[in-house]
Amino acid sequence: MSRPVLQVIAGSTRPGRKGIAVAQWVARQAEAHGGFDVELVDLADAGLPVLDEPDHPRLGQYTKDHTKAWSATISRADAFVFVFPEYNHSIPGGLKNAIDFLFHEWADKAAGLVSYGGVSAGTRSAAALKPVLGALRVVPVVEAATIPFFTQFIDDDGVFTGNAELETGAGAMLDEIARLTAKLRGPRD
Ligand SMILES: Cc1cc2nc3c(=O)[nH]c(=O)nc-3n(C[C@H](O)[C@H](O)[C@H](O)COP(=O)(O)O)c2cc1C
Repeated sequence: MSRPVLQVIAGSTRPGRKGIAVAQWVARQAEAHGGFDVELVDLADAGLPVLDEPDHPRLGQYTKDHTKAWSATISRADAFVFVFPEYNHSIPGGLKNAIDFLFHEWADKAAGLVSYGGVSAGTRSAAALKPVLGALRVVPVVEAATIPFFTQFIDDDGVFTGNAELETGAGAMLDEIARLTAKLRGPRD
């Protein structure tokens, strides 16, 4: 069986966002892990408007090209890592909107959660994301990576470099995604 496709989803879209550097670091960690074919999926590139499909996504009757393209992207994933900040104690609206666009494409796949922020490290945002993923039958792994005071890890060139603790946490998360994906993938296929 081929290596599972792991999509690292960059969940902040605003101009000047800092999170893309975190997502790029997570993608590098996942490449180094060696257990996955890694794709960085930038929500800013998906170009999704506020949900504009008439039917429930459960039906898969998509009418817009952007939805069909987004569906094709998420369909090819075997697992995800969501990388996201905390906006007003919850997930960014753009991330929730992108998740809401689809249904079956998400299901029965493992997900790691990487939240970042100040003292709270985006943990309230991570807590808010879990029931959304649960509704879509995405399986969040316990080994989440949370990054407090995250800007200290971003240099003047906009490159995020994690310390040994963060790398250990990300590695544990990726190991668990790999373990769970091996169990979920066969039955799903
Ligand atoms: C609309 C908005 C709401 C925010 N709310 C929170 C918050 O509730 N808790 C927090 O720790 N930081 C909050 N912040 C600060 C973010 O952690 C910080 O701006 C971070 O860089 C956002 O990630 P991004 O740059 O990838 O968009 C907020 C930022 C924005 C733009």
